[in-house]
Amino acid sequence: METLPLKGREIVVGVTGGIAAYKAVEVVRRLKKLGAGVHVVMTREATEFVTELTFREISGQQVAQDMWEKAPQYHVEHIALARLAELVLVVPATANILAKAAAGLADDLLSTTLLATKAQVYYAPAMNTGMWENPATQANLAVLRQRGARIIEPASGALACDATGKGRLPEPVAIAEEILSYFQKGQRLRGRKVLVTAGGTEEPLDPVRFLGNRSTGRMGYALAEAAARAGAEAVLVSGPTALADPVNVRVIRVRTALEMQRAVQAEADADAVIGAAAVADYRPAEVAEQKIKKNDGELTLRLVRNPDILAGLGAEKRRGQVLVGFAAETESIAEYARRKLEKKNLDFIVANDVSQADAGFGVPTNRVQIFYRDGRREQQPLMEKQALAGLILERVADCLADK
Ligand code: CTP
Repeated sequence: METLPLKGREIVVGVTGGIAAYKAVEVVRRLKKLGAGVHVVMTREATEFVTELTFREISGQQVAQDMWEKAPQYHVEHIALARLAELVLVVPATANILAKAAAGLADDLLSTTLLATKAQVYYAPAMNTGMWENPATQANLAVLRQRGARIIEPASGALACDATGKGRLPEPVAIAEEILSYFQKGQRLRGRKVLVTAGGTEEPLDPVRFLGNRSTGRMGYALAEAAARAGAEAVLVSGPTALADPVNVRVIRVRTALEMQRAVQAEADADAVIGAAAVADYRPAEVAEQKIKKNDGELTLRLVRNPDILAGLGAEKRRGQVLVGFAAETESIAEYARRKLEKKNLDFIVANDVSQADAGFGVPTNRVQIFYRDGRREQQPLMEKQALAGLILERVADCLADK
């Protein structure tokens, strides 16, 4: 699978009215090629330099421009754009937009989006040297920097106004690289392979029936996504779920515990394995070839043990490998969790009390305790599964770094 480094990332590109606006087309093209979803917002002045059509074609999305559009693409457009963006890049940024942003003015779609967003904002200024050097512009830049915005410094060289000096927009490739490195920094699992099991298994009784459980797969999917986000090669072995494949993750779908075991063994060269699947401990001893018909008496099912997938990996743990398990318990959590940690030869185990309504199966949140090999215990507050996934991957990276 080709992994595009910015796949799943949503970037708003604001284009303002400078001669360098044509270079923004190339920046958008490069961000798209890296896999990002790019949403272009143009100021009215920008449309004097480059047409909206060009950006629409290159970005593959409608271009947002007017605050008062009759049938806007986004609901309450500036707010929607501000929320959707993980990063806002203003390229080129004129002295005027810098001044407006520094002052908190919001008189068009782009300035309103800049005021509303909580995303990281990058400005790539381009202007005449005199305007760049003017203390007003420098003061505005200082204010924006101080508020967390990043400035991609203009280059020196020949300017459109026949002058030479600082103020040129850097090459589009350099701007795209800067944005890429923003997303890639802090990726502690680059070069690592992380395998996650997720969902429940289905153990067939006959052609139409199975024994299953209530796992939705949400925790495991969030983990695989977090692993990919941290830069890992992420592989997800998933039982049947209703969830869509996470981005940048190689998904192997299986049904039974035995199929899951085979798939996991084929990928067991992973640097870290996280067992988030609710694997059936037992399967029907015989699978009827035809549908089982009812009769008046009782029906007794004979079940046989399934292999413990994680314990199997624990028994043959590779040097430097990190193994993580989950424990869903309804009582004596610490005792059972510690026992599983030892028995399966895990580095840590994430235990949750599934008797609570807001943790565990079928809900978007979890409240967990993490037990480590050295006896440490970490109690976590109630968290969204996405946030918990990020935290667990941080702990995985810590363990890998320690080995
Ligand atoms: N697990 C596994 N293969 C199994 C059973 C469990 O890989 N056949 C993994 C799960 O993915 C989880 C951990 O082992 O990470 C603990 O699973 P759990 O069902 O809570 O524990 P069990 O060992 O099955 O113990 P019990 O059912 O007695 O609670």
